[in-house]
Amino acid sequence: MNVLDLVRPDLRGFGGYLSARKQNSGGAVWLNANEAPLAQRFDTLQLNRYPEPQPGDLRRAMADYYGVPDSSLLLSRGSDEAIDLLIRALCVPGADSILIQSPTFGMYAVCARLHACTVIDSPLQETAAGFVWDIPGMIALALRERCKVLFLCSPANPTGQSLPAAELQRLLDGLAGRCLVVVDEAYGEYSAQPSALALMPRYPHLAVLKTLSKAHALAGARIGSVIAAPELIAILKTCQAPYPIAKPSAALALQAFSEGALASTRAGIAVCLSERERLQERLHALPMMVQVFASDANFLLLRCTEADRLAAHLLANGIVVRAMSHYPALRDCLRVSVGSPADNDRLLAVLDTFPGATHA
Ligand SMILES: Cc1ncc(COP(=O)(O)O)c(C=O)c1O
Repeated sequence: MNVLDLVRPDLRGFGGYLSARKQNSGGAVWLNANEAPLAQRFDTLQLNRYPEPQPGDLRRAMADYYGVPDSSLLLSRGSDEAIDLLIRALCVPGADSILIQSPTFGMYAVCARLHACTVIDSPLQETAAGFVWDIPGMIALALRERCKVLFLCSPANPTGQSLPAAELQRLLDGLAGRCLVVVDEAYGEYSAQPSALALMPRYPHLAVLKTLSKAHALAGARIGSVIAAPELIAILKTCQAPYPIAKPSAALALQAFSEGALASTRAGIAVCLSERERLQERLHALPMMVQVFASDANFLLLRCTEADRLAAHLLANGIVVRAMSHYPALRDCLRVSVGSPADNDRLLAVLDTFPGATHA
């Protein structure tokens, strides 16, 4: 199967914008991009010059870290931009569709809407143990509706569960040659499940999203990536803005792959996992909690007796959590990020003062 068969027919031979950096490199006197010849005195990064479209050192560092060839990784402005690029490159506006599994991360549907694409939903199923995917239902729906892209968030935001590798394989087998399966692993570092990247050599219609925004603690730098077959990466590159990765962000992000920074990332993940367990136990015992969902991510989904009133009480005490009332299946739920141990102590202390809490 050639993954290019899934790309918009009108974009298959498209070269994109020919930027000055792409047209020529090398030379000593740069007069090709209408830049200022001298940097500001405060500027240590030569920001008078446009950046490399795909900063090579960062791209190689990320590819090495994820264990993939750098030709299969595209740097993006967060995974948000990668989601947008995938829809842009594969879906014909006004004609094609994507498949999601609600309740899920909102940007898949937002980007689809911005590209005039239909959103087909194969909702997660709620069981006593939490939410699960309906893999046969997803395959049948994606084939029936001829969906071009299927976004699967694992670990899932906001419901917290991961998809077992065997289930993902079943999904990939069922959609081979028909639909690009995009596994969004924004929270992958917090899960014991192996990354979908292990399956990539066998499935050219698999793409994986990675980000530095969560476990690597660089949400403000806006660096993400999409990992996919090199021929698809080449197409995505033509759909991207000419200089998407700002030099200060790239320079900062590169530091995240030093031994010292990686050790501190691992330590941050370990603290998050133990705090997640502590919060799970403590929250479970509170009278207003109907359910504390299991989580493979850095947040907990809570079903509460009075979610709105509880969120308002937390806010009045300076604690901001995410209401889930915009998801019909999660109307009575709140999503709470696992904070620092001190943040979590504060959360628990304020929850203890919630007036009128009744046992569910
Ligand atoms: C599942 C999921 N994917 C992608 C993103 C966007 O991440 P980024 O900061 O890399 O754009 C988020 C952000 O919360 C997310 O929850």
